[in-house]
Amino acid sequence: MLTRRDWIRTTAATGAVLSLNPRILSAWKRQELISRAIPSSGEQVPIIGLGSSATFRRVAGSGEVEPLGEVLRTFVDRGARVFDTAPSYGDSEEVAGELATEMGFSDRIFWATKVNVARGGSADAAAARAQIERSFEYFGVDAIDLIQVHNLGDPPTQVGILQELKQEGRIRYLGITSTRKQQYPALAQAMQDYPLDFIGIDYAANNTSAADEIFPIAMDQGIGILVYVPFGRNLFTRASGQELPEWAAEFGATTWAQFFLKFAAAHPAVTCVTPATSNPEHMLDNIGTAMGRLPDEDEQARMLEVVEALPPAPRRRG
Ligand SMILES: NC(=O)c1ccc[n+]([C@@H]2O[C@H](COP(=O)([O-])OP(=O)(O)OC[C@H]3O[C@@H](n4cnc5c(N)ncnc54)[C@H](OP(=O)(O)O)[C@@H]3O)[C@@H](O)[C@H]2O)c1
Repeated sequence: MLTRRDWIRTTAATGAVLSLNPRILSAWKRQELISRAIPSSGEQVPIIGLGSSATFRRVAGSGEVEPLGEVLRTFVDRGARVFDTAPSYGDSEEVAGELATEMGFSDRIFWATKVNVARGGSADAAAARAQIERSFEYFGVDAIDLIQVHNLGDPPTQVGILQELKQEGRIRYLGITSTRKQQYPALAQAMQDYPLDFIGIDYAANNTSAADEIFPIAMDQGIGILVYVPFGRNLFTRASGQELPEWAAEFGATTWAQFFLKFAAAHPAVTCVTPATSNPEHMLDNIGTAMGRLPDEDEQARMLEVVEALPPAPRRRG
């Protein structure tokens, strides 16, 4: 029986995972992507990245990982770089690392992973280090670009380990993530207490509280931001069957996905938006966010009005 690892080897070697629809491949000539500087270093990264929970995680766990190879190939070919993952996203971290290594472009990816072994608020340092070593094995790189403490798990222990690794040159940047409103005050405090390069946080056209509570601190402290959950959990459902405003074309948004992603990317505090996808066509769509221009403040205000006026999402049963 072919194991998942065998499958990745075979398909990568034969180029089968690169069988991306030619219509997609010829859709755009390579264009410079809109980029932002990482505040702590000035290094530029494209404003659009790729996340790996949600559907990416589901497909990674299915064993049928061919679409993820196409997603990653599209991502790298079009010049995107930031891939957000975590040891807790099922097989995502391992599968993405294997695919990128086998296809020979692991070193072109800005690997952004996480660490968290905290249970009941406290993390075992040896277990955290072991988790980090597994990430190194998966990505096959000498230095991981970014490791963040997932969901504020025991920052004194886990940020401490990341600081040591950064000093040793094994990681380039460190940070902390949270997408829970109740954790925002603790995140704000951690941003004052630790020398963070990044935070990861939820922000979307129907979920803007991070812009009030957290973004000003990030700008003040020179901390970069990865935006998570940029489709606000229900924006596609709410926009389904609704017409995209014609004026969105003025800043280059031709789909609802680009409309939502360009909104999230437009905030000046944001370094990169990392939507998850398991679909290469959606990957290409999302990369369109980093083309043309981003909406200005007046346009962002109009975008919020449009989103506010979308029908509510159907109530979940139960
Ligand atoms: N605490 C944390 O650290 C934390 C928490 C949450 C999220 N995150 C990170 O942030 C990433 C993004 O958040 P998320 O995964 O929750 O949600 P998301 O990126 O907001 O949404 C993913 C969903 O959008 C769909 N999608 C993507 N592009 C699309 C397009 N162009 N058109 C239509 N549908 C599209 C995907 O389906 P398809 O596969 O069909 O495209 C999937 O169902 C995560 O993957 C993870 O890396 C971190």
